[in-house]
Order: sequence, then C-alpha cells, then structure tokens
Amino acid sequence: MPTAPRKILVTSALPYANNSIHMGHLVEYIQTDIWVRFQKLRGNHCLYVCASDAHGTPIMLKAQELGVTPEDLVARFRSEHLRDFSRFHIEFDNYHSTHSEENRVLVEGIYARLRERGLLAWRSIRQAYDAEAKMFLPDRFIRGSCPVCGTPDQYGDSCESCGATYAPTDLIDPRSAVTGTTPVQRDSEHLFFSLGRFESSLRSWTAAGHLDPSVARKLEEWFAAGLKDWDISRDAPYFGFRIPGTTDKYFYVWLDAPVGYMASFLDLCERRKNSPEPVDFNDYWSEESDAELYHFIGKDIAYFHTLFWPAVLEGSGYRKPSGVFVHGFLTVNGQKMSKSRGTFIPAATYLDHLQPEYLRYYYACKLGPGTDDIDLNLDDFVARVNADLVGKFANIASRCAGFISRLSGGRLAPALGTPALFQEFAAAAPLIARHYEAREYSRALREVMALADRANQYIDERKPWALAKDPARAAEVQAVCTDGINLFRLLMLYLKPVLPAIAQRAEAFLGAGPLHWDQHDQPLLDHSIGSYEPLVTRVDPAAVANLVAATRAAAAPPAPAAASAPEEKPVTIDIDTFLKADLRVATVLSAEAVEGADSLLRVTVDIGSEQRVVLAGIRRAYDPATLVGRQVILVANLKPRKMRFGTSEGMLLAAGDDAGIFLVTPDSGAKAGMRVR
Ligand code: 2FM
Ligand code: ZN
Repeated sequence: MPTAPRKILVTSALPYANNSIHMGHLVEYIQTDIWVRFQKLRGNHCLYVCASDAHGTPIMLKAQELGVTPEDLVARFRSEHLRDFSRFHIEFDNYHSTHSEENRVLVEGIYARLRERGLLAWRSIRQAYDAEAKMFLPDRFIRGSCPVCGTPDQYGDSCESCGATYAPTDLIDPRSAVTGTTPVQRDSEHLFFSLGRFESSLRSWTAAGHLDPSVARKLEEWFAAGLKDWDISRDAPYFGFRIPGTTDKYFYVWLDAPVGYMASFLDLCERRKNSPEPVDFNDYWSEESDAELYHFIGKDIAYFHTLFWPAVLEGSGYRKPSGVFVHGFLTVNGQKMSKSRGTFIPAATYLDHLQPEYLRYYYACKLGPGTDDIDLNLDDFVARVNADLVGKFANIASRCAGFISRLSGGRLAPALGTPALFQEFAAAAPLIARHYEAREYSRALREVMALADRANQYIDERKPWALAKDPARAAEVQAVCTDGINLFRLLMLYLKPVLPAIAQRAEAFLGAGPLHWDQHDQPLLDHSIGSYEPLVTRVDPAAVANLVAATRAAAAPPAPAAASAPEEKPVTIDIDTFLKADLRVATVLSAEAVEGADSLLRVTVDIGSEQRVVLAGIRRAYDPATLVGRQVILVANLKPRKMRFGTSEGMLLAAGDDAGIFLVTPDSGAKAGMRVR
C-alpha cells in the first residue's frame, strides 16, 4: 500500500549577509539540497527555506566602513548569495531575510510569551566599552595578546595559536578593534533567558533520538557543565530589532536568527496563499504539528541549535525540531582553508573555472551523517570525478546510444535482453534510499558506482561493437544497448539528487519526462530516445590549478594605502626603544610537544651564558626532532611569562601568516649568545 507523503520542512544555517559564500559554506548547502531533492524525488512534500542572517555588530560596522546602510549591505549580499546558490543548483522554496517584518512580528511574539511565562529577567553586567566609538564591544572586537601563550593580536574570546579560551579581560594589552583604544569596563542592564529551566525537557528531547550520537554526547557535556542563563540583549548602537518597551536595547542576533527559519516559512505561506499549493504556518510550527522539521548546521553552531533554540521554541509554545543534522568543517588538501595557499575559495571563483556538479558529486562522496571534518583533496577531486562520472557513469550511455540511433532508428527494443540485470539494479533502490535518508551519501554513491561497474562489465562482455559488424545480429545489438540505456537510466535516477542539471539533460536525451523514484522498477522499452550529447566532460587538472592561482591572487593583501579593514595603527619607535630588546642567537638543545596544548612546543635553547626554556606556538609547523641543533633568535629579556603549561623564558622570532610559521635563523657561522641588531 503506498504510504502517505511526509510533510517535511528543512533549513540550512542562515548565512551572514556581510561575506561571500565560499567552499566551506557549500558543504552544508549541498548536503541539504541533496537531501531535499531526494525527499522530493520520493514524492514527499518537502520544503526548503533559508534567509540572510542580517543583524549584529559585524554587519553594522561593515556597513559603516563601506558608507552604506546595513539594509543596503544585506540586500547586496542577499542577492549575491542567491546568485551563487542557484548556480550550484541549490534550490530553496523560499529565501528571506531576518531583517523582515515577518521576523520582527515572530520575535516580538516569542518575547511576549517568554516574558509572560517568567522566563526572562533583566540583570546588570559589566562589559568592555569603547569610549571613543561609544559602544560596547563584542568579544571578537577586542584584540590583544593571548594570556596563555602570549601570541599577539588574538580575539577576546579565544586564541588561534594555542586554542585557549578566556574572557576578554584576561587579554594582555587589550585594544578595541574599532578604534584601537583601550576598552574600559562599564555596567549595563541585559536581558537573560532562563535556559536552566529547560534542562529536563532538553534532556528528554536529546534522549529521544533527535540528534546524532556524537552530538548527543556533546550535549551531555554541556549538561554536566551546567546550563547558564543566556544573555539575549545588546546595547545600542546595534543593527537588529529593538526590544519593545526599551529605547536602547536590542535583541541579540542569535535570538532572532533561528526565528528567521520561521519567518522565511511564514513569508512562503504568504506567497503561496492563493496558489494551488498553499501551506499553513501552524501546520508546521504549532506544538501539535505532525510535520517533520530538520535543521542542517555546522558543528560550530550546535550549542545554539540544540540548547537555546529548542528551549526558546518550547518556552514560547512552538514545536521542537525533529532533528538537528550537524556536519563537520571543510579542509582543503588536509589543511584549514587558507587565503595565501589559494584554498579559501569563494563560490563564484570556483564557478569561473569548474562545473558546479563536480563539487556536488565530490562532496557527496565524502559526506556521512557525522560531525567529522571532510577534506577536499584537489588531486583526488580531479581523479574521482573523471573516474566515476566520466569513466563509469556517462560512459554507459555513450557506449550504447550510438548503436541505438544508427542501427535501430533511435528506438529501444520492446524487451530487455537481460532482465535479471535490470532487476538487480532495481533491487538496489531501497538500500540506496535508506542511505540518502540517513545522510549516508558516501555509501549511497559507493552502491551506485558499484552498479556502474557492473553495467560497464556487462557491455564489455556483450561487445555490441563486435556484434554490430554482423547485420544479422542487429536485434541482439539493440537488446544489449537497450539494457545499457536502461541501466544508465536507473543510475541517473539514483544520482539525480546529486546531479540535477545532468539529470535534466539525461531526461531530455531519454525523452520520457522527469525521472521519479517510483520508476526504478519500470524499464523504458519500445521507446524513441534522443541523440546523445556528452553529459559530463572531464575535469582538466589545469582548471583546478588556475582556480587556486586565481584565489591566491585575489586574496593577496592590498597595498597598505588601500587597506580598509580596521587594522592596528602603525606605531613608530625610536632606536633606543628598539635597542632595549635583547635579541640573541640561540641553539636549540631539545624540543618536545606540550601535552594538552595543540600548538605549543617546549624548546630548551642555549644562549652561550645560560639555557632558557621557551614555550613556543610552533607545534603545527615543526616536528620537534628537526629543531635540535638549529640556530634561532631569542628575545632574551622578555619578562618571563607564566602560562598554563609552565613559564616561558623568552620568545623565538618567527615570521607567519595563513601560509604557516617560519622560524628566523641566522646565517651559518653565528654563535650562540651573539647579540642580534
Ligand atoms: O554562524 C552563522 O553563520 C550564522 N549566521 C548562522 C545562523 S543559523 C540560524 F540560526 F539562523
Ligand atoms: Zn594562545
């Protein structure tokens, strides 16, 4: 008995409207789009909504810097994002903005309900304030030296070098990233949401299987650490929604961002009001809703979506998500994306050089349901796409189509030559569907490619090109190639969620309308097909090299005069100040990893008169064994710094940026202890 179509609402994280979409973002949108397309292909009623995440301090400041209104900035990025998404075949049913009337109404409604239920309270807190810019500073807008490893120019909440997290007040020599002045501490009234009141219902929700086991384990850690009240307000100036009844308090961007999922859906309901396919807001969002709701997100924002968001929904009388699907980060060639290596690739730059479906296929081959990071290895990318899509999949159609058109006037045979093989392909449908449903895309594609191997093997065995030499065997050629085309058709059906544009071209070639999952057991027979045009072209490795070169060139730092980002003001020092630094040639005697600190090495150096122990943030760049005997430069009169992992008696000079860390070494002949000028 056919089952009733499911009602499913799906979201991807709302991208901030102040930066371009890059390859890292695309992991999530491609992952979501494949899942949505799969659901639609199965006949489910699935809606996919997204929006621009418009609010917050970074967007306000970027607009100021560019001399435009935040609304203009958001509009500009919204249309850029939509352009990039659609070129990657990411097809939303609606794409809205969190700075919208729908969102304001929903957020104010949620606020009123939380207040009525006694879930909100005002409290005074002390925070960093930039007296020149007349604004409170988010942690990310305070920079200074890391209190743990001493690395300069770190954010106010965490160190990129040693990974330590801390309060902005712990930073050494903190500065406002807005004006460069030293922040002062100031009190202000903030609005807090009582997250702790939801602990038991969040625990039951977690235990009910709405999350992947690795995410549920993370929640256990958060429960164990205790759920603190959540600060949902920010002081003016702020780009966001003003809190009703206040003059200078705004809702924090993370309160209204997920409400943006609802707002985009509400906008969709309004758009479809008089259409043949109307949708009802309450059907999907009321506590009684029988629709499924899934959020696809990255692991960096799991806390917001698995604790705050379900608690806010419950507190304001809405349903909770059926699932929060959390993916890992993207690495390129095994490393964090890097501008200087040319691997921080904007979506638009990729499209200047390569086909979108290559990337969709490659990501799908790598994606599973877990939170492990996925790696885009550029050599593997070329090899995989060429081997699978060109060498295996499209090859089946291209090997058979010519014979059908030349020997059978473009008509498929009235019966399959080898029905058992077709049955084998059809029988794989439930397993492939289960894999897609469970977001096990890599497994789904492994099954599909194993079938593609089987199809090619069959054609190799039957050798239609040899049979075709004998006019008496034309019917046999037609039967073998009819089999081949039908096997190709099922593979195309199974790949359709991943390769929608290729599927469209294949559907035109097959001439039998859009492929639907239910057709997996119905062969196409006694039917005229179109002429075959190559469906996929090989990836040229030179195109990938050009892409990396173009990305690197575009990311090269602008000439200093053109620099527009808020950077540290250059400081001039006189020669006497410089000479106060006691720089010494030092020989490394030993080096070892510091347990518990991912980036630190404990390095013992000889500076002639004595030995020093330095904790240096160079672990990611150097194997400790290779350092022994090497000469380096030590800042010898730096005040010893007490760190969590011991005391550092000086600092080793090194150059560094995104490309890596490079220790400074004197020319050969220098002796340990020599002064450096
Ligand atoms: O982390 C981010 O990029 C946020 N803009 C995601 C928001 S998702 C949702 F909550 F709106
Ligand atoms: Zn640090």
